[in-house]
Amino acid sequence: MRLVLAITGASGAIFGVRLLEALKALDVETHLVVSKWGQQTLEHETGRTLGEIRGLAAATYAAGEMGAAISSGSFKTDGMVVVPASMRTVAAIAHGFGDNLVHRAAEVVLKERRRLVIVPRETPLTEIHLENLLKLARLGVTVLPPDPAFYHRPQTVGEIVDHVVARILDQFGLEAPFAKRWDGDMRRDDVVALRPKS
Ligand SMILES: Cc1cc2nc3c(=O)[nH]c(=O)nc-3n(C[C@H](O)[C@H](O)[C@H](O)COP(=O)(O)O)c2cc1C
Repeated sequence: MRLVLAITGASGAIFGVRLLEALKALDVETHLVVSKWGQQTLEHETGRTLGEIRGLAAATYAAGEMGAAISSGSFKTDGMVVVPASMRTVAAIAHGFGDNLVHRAAEVVLKERRRLVIVPRETPLTEIHLENLLKLARLGVTVLPPDPAFYHRPQTVGEIVDHVVARILDQFGLEAPFAKRWDGDMRRDDVVALRPKS
């Protein structure tokens, strides 16, 4: 499998980094593009440099590298994930701006009708944000906000991040060893013990 992964300047670069690690472990060929503000937030929030992260991908491109392979539909991929996706990037993709490689690569995935997963991060959302996301959803894009779940009882931030990453991998039929799934069992003893006494 070959995937394009874009990291843009929304908070939550850790989701993109963890996804890169998981894809490498799963032997997926990843093509990484990081926007200018994606790099700034990544280095600020994770304490890791873009140089370190690059080593996790099969190929990396600068956002201004419009001649990159992923800029053309003739370069076959199985899809793309934008994680995290800033509202600027969401707007650019929804309105067809191809003026940097993140926007262009997403445009290519859309025009070739391949799978596009957008992990938008902003709060609260304006009507503009919601309209842009709705437009993308109607085009067949999977809009997957990095909302934490708690039914698996996460104890660390890493477990919360892993849960979101596992949901992204699900979109491509990929199974991470750390994926936790709801099994429908609400009758565990420790769960019952937490319920208020009636
Ligand atoms: C520390 C930091 C956190 C940010 N978090 C967000 C965010 O969560 N969502 C968002 O839409 N923009 C956020 N921004 C603003 C974007 O980085 C900015 O709009 C930028 O132009 C996005 O460009 P890009 O989409 O090309 O990366 C943040 C900026 C900084 C410096």
